Amino acid sequence: MLKGVILAGGLGTRLYPSTKNTSKHLLPVGDEPMICHSIKQLTSSGINDILIVTNPLHVEDFKDVLGDGEQFGCQIDYQVQNEAKGIAHALSLAEDFAEKHNIVVLLGDNIFETTIRTHIEDYLKQRNGARVVLKQVKDPERYGVANIVDDKITLIEEKPPNPHSDYAVIGLYFYDSTVFDIIRTIKPSSRGEFEITTVNNVYVRREELEYSILQGEWVDAGTHESLAIANKMLLSRKE
Ligand code: DAU
Repeated sequence: MLKGVILAGGLGTRLYPSTKNTSKHLLPVGDEPMICHSIKQLTSSGINDILIVTNPLHVEDFKDVLGDGEQFGCQIDYQVQNEAKGIAHALSLAEDFAEKHNIVVLLGDNIFETTIRTHIEDYLKQRNGARVVLKQVKDPERYGVANIVDDKITLIEEKPPNPHSDYAVIGLYFYDSTVFDIIRTIKPSSRGEFEITTVNNVYVRREELEYSILQGEWVDAGTHESLAIANKMLLSRKE
């Protein structure tokens, strides 16, 4: 059984002033709040037990909009991340929820043109270790970037100024229950965040990181420009 975790904390500063009094994940994308896209990606792939990690300022707004998940046919639980200390830190708060099950983790600002179901099925077959999903992009320096040698990921670099490849690691990750022990061992990066890339590199060193390539379009809707692109993508998908 896989449980789902959506990370929707952080401050959304790149979207100021639109995110001064609301969460980035509650801004509209297509015809509904951004977070609904992530929830529906999970429920339509058979994941019905979902945790949303939010910041303390907006948790009540999420609850107002989403409730306990009944409208989506799933169970939604909430966890508050008091400080935006990084994606790995936000994920550490899901340990009790996971109850030793494997998890699929979505970054709440990642928008997909098509279903992520095949990646979920691939991980269910993989069973242990971790799995990331890659997408070739024109601007890899904005993302975690995978160095690949002989079809194996040898290292992931977070926002490298001189990327070794154009394969971005997108915000869809799969982990076994050892991820929480790994997070306890990592140190913050130079920008002061507990990085998900640091966690993924532990799996690389253990030779327990698999990957697949995303088909279809994908947008990290964390900036005004990319939010506009995500909007267009979802609206045209419905036509
Ligand atoms: O979109 C894919 C990229 O996402 C990856 O390629 C990078 O490796 C990964 O670090 C991440 O980079 P971003 O700079 O886009 O991350 P951002 O700070 O925008 O956070 C992404 C989501 O994670 C956001 O929707 C909210 C959540 N988050 C973030 C932070 C820093 C939290 O829940 N808590 C946090 O403390």
